[in-house]
Amino acid sequence: MSSLLGPRPEVQVDATSGKVPASVRRLCDLAYLERSIHRILCGWGNQFYAWPDKVAVCRHIWDQAGIVERLRQRIGQFPGIEPDAPVSQDLETLANTVLLAPGFEDAVDGVYQILNTALVQAYLDFIQQVHAIHDAPTHQIIQEIVTIKDMQRRWRGDYRRRQPHTIDAAYLDRIQAQLRAVDHLAQPRPVHPRDPAGPVGVRTNFRPYTPRIDPAWLTHSGTDILACLSPDFAGSVEARRLFWPIGYMRELGLALGQMRWLYDAPDMPWEFHHDESRHLWDESRHGDSGYARMKDFGLRIEEVGFTHAHDALGQSVFPEPPVPSAPLSPQELYDELFIIGLVAETGHFRVKREAYADFRDGGDLESAEMMLYDIIDETAHVQYAHKWLPVLARRAGIESTGYEQRAAEVRRQKQREEDQRVEQLRQSSARLTTPIYRQYQELLARLRRQRPLTNANSCPPRSPKPM
Ligand SMILES: [Fe+2]
Ligand SMILES: [Fe+2]
Repeated sequence: MSSLLGPRPEVQVDATSGKVPASVRRLCDLAYLERSIHRILCGWGNQFYAWPDKVAVCRHIWDQAGIVERLRQRIGQFPGIEPDAPVSQDLETLANTVLLAPGFEDAVDGVYQILNTALVQAYLDFIQQVHAIHDAPTHQIIQEIVTIKDMQRRWRGDYRRRQPHTIDAAYLDRIQAQLRAVDHLAQPRPVHPRDPAGPVGVRTNFRPYTPRIDPAWLTHSGTDILACLSPDFAGSVEARRLFWPIGYMRELGLALGQMRWLYDAPDMPWEFHHDESRHLWDESRHGDSGYARMKDFGLRIEEVGFTHAHDALGQSVFPEPPVPSAPLSPQELYDELFIIGLVAETGHFRVKREAYADFRDGGDLESAEMMLYDIIDETAHVQYAHKWLPVLARRAGIESTGYEQRAAEVRRQKQREEDQRVEQLRQSSARLTTPIYRQYQELLARLRRQRPLTNANSCPPRSPKPM
């Protein structure tokens, strides 16, 4: 029945409902599909090419985590149903159909245009059907979700103006057939108790590709500006002021790697995915912060390079064209979080705090500000590492007792290696005549002209570069 106020909501309980209204089972279906989009973005997201698009997809991964978290919290408020309650395998088939795009640009349209539009329709239909007063908390959540989806829709419109593409017709037909098969999500899908949906992708042969990186952004050992300035790191506040925007810019590479952490850990609890999605978004933001500061100083990525010559995770590999990546084993995921959280992030606090104080005291408050926000984020990242390493160790079947002492030993070892490397560079007078050294001096001068540091000559020596 309709009224002037629109269609009348449908009653969500019947004689068999118990404590769970039908609308909550529908929320479980929607949460599964939103979590699938989160996984699909982690699976394909490292193929975006331009800087702003790499940054945007990291934000969307965090937005998706927020959508899933909101829905799960609401579902969890109803006794008798869990946020991880099984859902129909039809939804897995739909999500797999979107994941298995013929190419990257089709996957972009499959997610941002086709599946997101279907979801928004389902949400609008939901709030028409479900009582706006009795279930106001769900209405509120859905309004927030639809706002996020609208931001993604507008982002995709802008992306498509820059990257024109027409979705593959057969792929579109396959998705639409699956949407019809689930009745456009109009009702909760019946679940086969012995055969519920698994995470999108796990029952397919899909593999994420290696990250797609502009070849002009690659540097090679011996031509890396940050390695070149490392002998001056402790002694020169100007060298450190050049180091940090570039160092931060390169952290976007870590976020691209973290997409594989998430994609290849479908068995980990949702809370891990939520924490690490925030970690991933933060690292992309650090990348963008550093790049923003670089642009303030007129520095281009092509001049200074994007790859780490001395990456904490080893030499980065970016084949062109990208190739399917090997699955990250439980041991490898443990090792990566250990090195990032307990070695790199823990090991850099001291030099970051020193840089913050020195840039502030030298009158470069913009550079100081960039350091301070990062230090706050990093404090949370180290907490994530302490929270999840024991769980990841059990998952990998390895012993994690004493991991903090082991991390301290690795940090000391990395410091010794770095000190030796810096000492060797310092003793080589040949390095002062290399093209990269001349470029380094030119960049220092460029920053000095733009914003001289008042403590350039008076700042006392600080801690050496830790790794
Ligand atoms: Fe960071
Ligand atoms: Fe971090």
